[in-house]
Formats: sequence, structure tokens, C-alpha cells
Amino acid sequence: MISSVLKVYECKGSEKDVSGLHQIEVCSLCLPLWVISMFWSLLIITALCTSTWLCLMWYKLSMYWAERGVKHVPVYPFLGSLTFLMRYNPAIWMRNVYESFDTPYVGMWVFFRPAVIINDPEIARNILIKDAAVFKDRFLSPGPSDPIGRLNLFTVKDPLWSFLRRRLTSVFTAAKLRGVFRIMQQKSKELVQRIDIEMKANKRVDLRMMFTDYTTDIIGASAFGVAGDATLTGESPLRSITKEFMEFNVLRGLSWVSIFFYPEIVDFFGFTAFPKSVTEYFRKIFRTIVAERGGYEVEIRENRDLLDALIKLKQDCVRDNEDISEDTLVAQAAVFLQAGFDTTGSIFAYCVYELAFHPEIQNKLYQELIEAKEKIGHADFEMNSLTELKYLDCVINETMRKYQPMGWLDRMASKDYKLDDRLTITVGTPVYVNVIGIHYDPKFYPEPERFNPDRFLSINKKNTNITTFVPFGDGPRSCIGRRFAMMNLRNTLATMFLVYEARALPNTPKPSEAKIEARNLFLAPGEPLLVKFVPRS
Ligand code: HEM
Repeated sequence: MISSVLKVYECKGSEKDVSGLHQIEVCSLCLPLWVISMFWSLLIITALCTSTWLCLMWYKLSMYWAERGVKHVPVYPFLGSLTFLMRYNPAIWMRNVYESFDTPYVGMWVFFRPAVIINDPEIARNILIKDAAVFKDRFLSPGPSDPIGRLNLFTVKDPLWSFLRRRLTSVFTAAKLRGVFRIMQQKSKELVQRIDIEMKANKRVDLRMMFTDYTTDIIGASAFGVAGDATLTGESPLRSITKEFMEFNVLRGLSWVSIFFYPEIVDFFGFTAFPKSVTEYFRKIFRTIVAERGGYEVEIRENRDLLDALIKLKQDCVRDNEDISEDTLVAQAAVFLQAGFDTTGSIFAYCVYELAFHPEIQNKLYQELIEAKEKIGHADFEMNSLTELKYLDCVINETMRKYQPMGWLDRMASKDYKLDDRLTITVGTPVYVNVIGIHYDPKFYPEPERFNPDRFLSINKKNTNITTFVPFGDGPRSCIGRRFAMMNLRNTLATMFLVYEARALPNTPKPSEAKIEARNLFLAPGEPLLVKFVPRS
């Protein structure tokens, strides 16, 4: 184009000026045309250089695992290996990876970052327990402008994590949880009433909704000291919040994906672990209830619930001249709610659903319950008497094996770590222990699709040295709410199955065929799990 313009318009040559130097007289079009041509040339060169650089970078990135001789899943531009996100649940993807590779570990990419999936229980054990000092942190991380999201035990990084974990571990001892057990006992009676109400209304019970109503009440009362009515009515202010957690919208989806897999962009886009309105609500109720209990100054003698324990934590820190902000305390109450209500709710839902489809297992459990009840008479089950119910534990364990809510365990290497002679995991690399894959490995669990609680009568003894059953994770970063959750599961299922029998309904999917929530990062039912309850005579 430029040359055709020049053909039409002639440029004047140069003339000598008084100083004898050549004065260039340029026609009015020459300079702009030269600028334009330079601009385009530069643009083309820059584009060529950038695309060559991008191609080289992409080649280097995509060869990362091949160069190390590590089998790996495919990598795609932008999402890396995470192309399944929002299409199907990560737990399903992890199972596919486990079944498709016969190697102890598999390479993958989270967006542009290489990461490792651990399929081998021995290596998992090293990472979670033996070399836990290298893997203290999770890779996921909310942004610095989200204190409630960032300061809670699940997301916080070391050394604050070590400090908090040490202080909070004492909150979850059996002795300290006695007060919470009273709340659980009272709520389980309300659950029985709720089932009665649903039955009288001839309703088919949506298990996940009913149990998340219930777990919201229990954790709300334990962690925030707030009495809720959701078990009986399905509604409460805290329940509105947990319902919001369960609802999917694109913004929440993007927030969670960024927090889990691309923490660098979280703050840039203003993503937060909890919606801002929820954070404010948590702060408000926390302050109100602490004030109702006399503030941080009134000495806590006996822990009634987790909130008392958090107030005590503040008092201990003041005594030891250690600083702990109010947001840090609120963050712990918030994470107990978030980490506890849906995990436990989903396990309840799957457990009852499986038992509805397996009347023979349900009857075996019922026999154990009535025998135990005969011993204690009219009294309620206590924490100790519940731990003696071995078959109940087998039923719970088998449910958690099949439906472990977090399909993988997230860790990050804090320094280079030699995994074996071939591979050294470099500092900052995300590592995912493939729990759900291990839980479905027929080597450890023959006929893994079958719901068979009996396998837990002996399996733990058979595999004591390796990490083949990890529903609560393992090592120092394992679930702090494990005892709390087990107490709740045992008490609720024992109370409920003594009074009711759960029956499968016609035209409902078999448990293994029921849809799984595709857009959730955790494993949860993707459709209502409906059963009918019938009172025991
Ligand atoms: C059946 C119910 C539950 C299951 C299956 C479950 C499972 C898990 C798993 C797999 C982890 C990660 C462990 C790891 O990375 O090694 C975890 C962490 C955690 N869970 Fe649970 N959980 C349950 C209930 C609860 C409850 C009721 C609470 C609170 C009251 C709770 C609080 C937490 C917290 C705070 C963490 C982070 C611990 C840390 O990083 O130090 N969980 N849970």
C-alpha cells in the first residue's frame, strides 16, 4: 500500500543549506507513511517473537513430565489438565486417572503449573505423615484481602497454621466435646420428629436437604452458639447461608476454582471464599454471642461448645502475650461450619440411601442397635456406648470409603523433595493424594462398587501399615473435626435407625448410578436422593 502511494506522490530530494549540510525536505506524506510502516513492522516482529516465545514456553511446559520420564495426563492451553472442571466432579476425574495409569504417581498441570497426583498408598503415607514437615501447607489459598477465608485452619499457611492447630487440637478432645454431644443428642431427637412430620405429610424425603438442615443446626449451635430451627422447619438465618453455599452460580464457581488452582489471580478478581455479606454476618453474630457470654474477659471454666473453646483460645493467647485477631477467631467458626455441614450431610445422605437399597445390611445394623439398647434401657446412647457399636462403625466407614467428600488431599512442597530416584518434586509444586482412587482399588477393596460394610470388620487389620482408608485425610494436617463428625454420625444413625426403617422408592436410581454434583469441587449428590421412612414396630 505504501509503495502504491509513493508511485502517485513524488518525494522531493535534498538541498544544501547555508551551513553546507544537506537539508532534507520531506513531503507531507513521507513521515506518516514511514511511521506507519515502522509501526506495522514492529508489530509483526513483536507478534512473531511473542508467538515463538509462547510456542517455546508451551513446548517446554508440555514436555515437563515427559522430560522427567513421568506418565502424565494430557495438557491443554489455559486450563492445563483441568478441562473437566464444571463438567464433571473432580472425584470422578481422579478415579479415571487412577484406573488409567498403573504408575505410583502421575503428572498433570493445574493451569500452567505442573502438579503430581499420588496413586500409591506408600508414597501417600510418606507425604501425609512421614515427611509431613515438607508438606505442611495446602496449595489452595484465598487472597490477602479475604481474612476470614485466608486465616482459617483449612487454608492458612505455616507458621500460623502450626500455632492455630496446636491451640485448636485441644478443643476437639473427647472430654472437651462432651458439651457438644448434648447438643447432638437433643438435635437427633428433633431429626426423628422431622422424619415423623415428613412421613405424616406423605412426603418423599430428600436426604441431602434434610441432613444439611440438621448439620447446619448442630454446627451452628456448636461453633457460633446460635440455636437454629432448621432441623424441624428447614429454615433458619444460618441455614439461608448454608443453602447459599450449596447453590451454584458462575461467580462462586470461578472463585472456588481460582482459590483451589490459581491462587495468584484470586485477589486481582476480588474472589473470596465466603460472599462478603456472609463474612459480615459471621462477624456480627460472633460478636453478639461473645458479648452475651460476658466478652473475652469472663473466664471460661467449662467448654459448652466450640465457641467457648474459641473464647478460651483468645484468653490463653492474651495470657501468653500472643496476638490473635477477632477475624482469626471468626475464621475458625466459619470453617467449622463450611467444612462440617455439607461433608457430614452428604455422608448421612449416602449412608441412608445405601441402607434403603440394602435391607439385609440395615437389619444387621438394627440388630446391633436393639441389643445395645436393651443393655442401656430407656437411657440415651452415650459417647462411650456408641463407640462399642462395631457394625455401625463398619457402615459409616464403608459409606466414607465410597463417598469420601474430598476426592483428593491437597499439599504443596515447601522445598525440593526427592520422591524416588526418578523424580524430585520442586518447591511450590501442588501434590494431590488420590484418595478416591485408592478407595476404589480392587486390590484393597474387592468389588469396590459394592456397598459391603463387612469388609471393615477385617480390612484395617490387613492394611495397617499403608494409607488405604483416609476419609479424614492423614498426618498432622488431617481433619480436625474427625471426632466431632464421628460422634455426630454414630449418634444420629443409631437414634434414627432404632425408630425408622429407610426404604428405597420405585423409579429411583441405584446408589452407584445416582448423579454426582458436577459443578462442586467436593463429592456430593447431584440429584435428590429420595427414600421413604417407615416406623419400626
Ligand atoms: C464426615 C465428615 C467429614 C469428613 C469426611 C471430613 C474430611 C476432611 C478431610 C479429607 C480433610 C483434609 C485432610 C487432609 O488434607 O489430610 C478435612 C480437613 C478439615 N476438616 Fe473435615 N471432614 C468432616 C467433617 C468435619 C467437621 C464436622 C469439621 C468441623 C467441626 C471439620 C473441620 C475440618 C478442618 C478445620 C479441616 C482443616 C484441618 C487442617 O488443615 O489443619 N471437618 N476434613
